[in-house]
Amino acid sequence: SAHKAFAPALLHWFKDNARPLPWRESYDPYHVWISEIMLQQTQMERGVAYFERWTRELPSPSAVAQANEDDILKLWEGLGYYNRARNLMRAAQIMVDSHDGWVPEDKATLLALPGIGPYTAAAILSIAYEQDEPLVDGNVARVLARVFDLDAPVGETATQKALWALAAELLPAGQARNFNQGLMELGALVCKPRTPVCANCPLAELCEARRLGITEHRPVPGKK
Ligand code: ADE
Repeated sequence: SAHKAFAPALLHWFKDNARPLPWRESYDPYHVWISEIMLQQTQMERGVAYFERWTRELPSPSAVAQANEDDILKLWEGLGYYNRARNLMRAAQIMVDSHDGWVPEDKATLLALPGIGPYTAAAILSIAYEQDEPLVDGNVARVLARVFDLDAPVGETATQKALWALAAELLPAGQARNFNQGLMELGALVCKPRTPVCANCPLAELCEARRLGITEHRPVPGKK
């Protein structure tokens, strides 16, 4: 069944196709946090360039907490959505003041930080700390909507709830770092919005939208 074969096929593919992104060198939780904030509303190539410069100048939460706001905003200049940078500063200050300078490793503490919602918390917990937390972003939603032929609009709360539940069912214990990143990577490189390259997809044989010839109609766009 699609459920049972999904994770092994995805993990095998990711092992051979993971891009050499800089935060994948050490999976330092600080690096994972910064990368996840930067990649929101930012293309990968630009995100990588800004990440390299930021982490060179500011290698830890305490460095962020000690830097002055003008210097931080200069490191962010060009990325837009400057509240993301201001939230990084506020969160870094809390990490220094209340968490010994560390990125928290439990969900409730992460969710209490400015700029960290359910997606970012799950990314930090799974990718940096290897906790079994599912996650769904736009790329993941598209992959799941296609493989399982979900016809509910992805923008709706009930659909998001179903997608997170499905991601949780599919997640293999102990493999969240590679499973979650594999899903994102597959969505970015193969199961792309306009022209999915099903010939290169490890899930093609499991994919219901491909079988039906309706990949371009999945996911169903949100209402609004
Ligand atoms: N987009 C956001 N986070 C990512 C990650 N860890 N790998 C690939 N794409 C991403």
